[in-house]
Amino acid sequence: MGNPVWYVTTPIYYPSEDLHVGHAYTTVAADALARFHRLLGEPVWFVTGTDEHGQKIAKSAEKAGMSPRQLVDQIVGRIQDPLWARLGISYDDFIRTTEPRHYQVVQSIFAQLRDKGDVYKGVYEGWYCLPDESFWTESKLVDGKCPDCGRPVERVQQESYFFRMSRYQEDMIEYIETHPDFIQPISRKNEMLAFLRAGLEDLSISRTGLKWGIPVPDDPDHVIYVWFDALSNYLTAAGYLSNPEQFSRTWPPDVQLVGKEIVRFHTIIWPIMLMALGLPLPRHVFGHGWVLLGDTKMSKSRGNVVDPLTLIEKYGVDAVRYYLLKEVPFGSDGNYTEDALILRINVDLANDLGNLLSRTTAMIERFAQGVVPELDVSQDNGVLAAEVARVYRTVESAMKNLQISDALQAINELVRVANKYIEDQQPWALARQPELLPRLNAVLYNLAEVCRVLSVLLTPFLVETPQKIRQQLGLDMPVQAYREAVFGGFPKDIRVRRGQPLFPRIELTAAEPEWITLDDFQKIDLRVGTIRHAEVVSGADRLLKLTVFDGERERTIVSGIRATYQPEDLIDKQVVLVANLKPVKLRGILSEGMLLAGSAEGVLSIVAPISPLAEGARVK
Ligand code: MSP
Repeated sequence: MGNPVWYVTTPIYYPSEDLHVGHAYTTVAADALARFHRLLGEPVWFVTGTDEHGQKIAKSAEKAGMSPRQLVDQIVGRIQDPLWARLGISYDDFIRTTEPRHYQVVQSIFAQLRDKGDVYKGVYEGWYCLPDESFWTESKLVDGKCPDCGRPVERVQQESYFFRMSRYQEDMIEYIETHPDFIQPISRKNEMLAFLRAGLEDLSISRTGLKWGIPVPDDPDHVIYVWFDALSNYLTAAGYLSNPEQFSRTWPPDVQLVGKEIVRFHTIIWPIMLMALGLPLPRHVFGHGWVLLGDTKMSKSRGNVVDPLTLIEKYGVDAVRYYLLKEVPFGSDGNYTEDALILRINVDLANDLGNLLSRTTAMIERFAQGVVPELDVSQDNGVLAAEVARVYRTVESAMKNLQISDALQAINELVRVANKYIEDQQPWALARQPELLPRLNAVLYNLAEVCRVLSVLLTPFLVETPQKIRQQLGLDMPVQAYREAVFGGFPKDIRVRRGQPLFPRIELTAAEPEWITLDDFQKIDLRVGTIRHAEVVSGADRLLKLTVFDGERERTIVSGIRATYQPEDLIDKQVVLVANLKPVKLRGILSEGMLLAGSAEGVLSIVAPISPLAEGARVK
């Protein structure tokens, strides 16, 4: 028997429509975890796939004027390639619930449970939520709607097979209580315990009148409920029935990632199915949050989706992966905006990471004839080595605890410390003093070494950048193992090869302005004035009360500039004021106008004539 396999799964996606950034999020997260464990040298089995049966798919196909099979084949094709191919998803198996191997597993599970009396035939009367494909009793509805998604439900009454979940209620509660990290994060665990304690009813697991599904063995008028079918995919993909050797090494899953709205299926129905089959339960089910767009969940039915392929085309695969993994803390919801994506590219990737590499290779070319100097410990203050050691441990433990954004955060800190190291050490100054050459060499070694370490640390997250970093460093071997991120391993006699910036900055093109005419502009009465008096406004730490002479009279202007200016800085200073702005009361003071001031990157400055002008002079 070989080594146990680290088994990670994503939910299997409904191929009723093309997938969006929300689906990409889960899949990229699972991919990063899988890549990390591979880097640790563990055999990994990473499975994703598609959930192709059920009424939702059947209805979408009908709408599209296709057979369900045609629809799913078409969409699944696009999910595999280009979507997952372009996003660099390194799955080991892609399971489709319409495959014969899965069909056999589902029928066998059904038959086993029926044989042992955990599945029985009865009559189902209740409510069905079509978009979620979930059954509900009257008492669980919220305002007559689906308690999971808030959408309308339909009344169903039919003969049905039931799964005797009630029998396992106590076992399930006990399991969750004795396995505190089975459901993560903890808030979701408490929610599930409350749900279980409220009482578990038997679950309807077949439907009549629906053709698009797996038939119940020996009773083909019934098709098996799509969630029963879907959850079993994790067994099929591990080789259950088809490959006992693989199955024994792979089972149970180590981590199952699911969106928060399907945690209930995965932490109640699914483990009870496994209990009933006498199989071990997954080690961890992690319920992650949603990618929101404008405060609501990104979803096709809400019509607010973003196509990951468009983003990849515009910004590159690694920028998209980085953004998804970094920006939405794993476990909480996070808002998607393109501006935030651009900000992460410009700040974290272009400015911090990209500059570190380009400064490092440029300095090695300039000060060391392009060859990375050797490590000379006697010349080294150990700052970067210590930081690398810290980040190595932080990333490892964050990834093992499924805190992907924390791992990236730690990597960012290393980049920032390295950039600061350049500022502190000032290699260009060392280079001017020949006696400091050994120190200069140590600094250059350290910087090259941090860049090399970063290429290792980033390997689980980014698919192109680590290799690009290595090319520029003159390292040809791709990263093989996480322990290569230990400080001090830069090979000897390596010549750097400067290259293109890793991440070109994205210039934010301002939206097309709304033009105004000269007439519009001339409506604004701008005049030069002089500040005669200034005082703080009590109780308001951003405001100053100014007395400004405008050539005719003194007027009071309340201005939000106190963070930058003290009252005494302003006396007798000339300013430009908007003289015909409608007066308003601010903090009980009538403010008659406004000063012009500009601000950028947190710095504010009053706008003034560069040589004095008579008060009252018109500005135009
Ligand atoms: N087919 C079921 C899962 C069966 S698993 C045995 C299903 N499919 S789904 O396509 O609707 O959703 C699949 C996964 O994508 C879910 O985990 C869901 O949470 C996730 N996401 C869908 N939209 C999402 C966001 N906007 N944000 C984050 N994840 C999102 O449910």
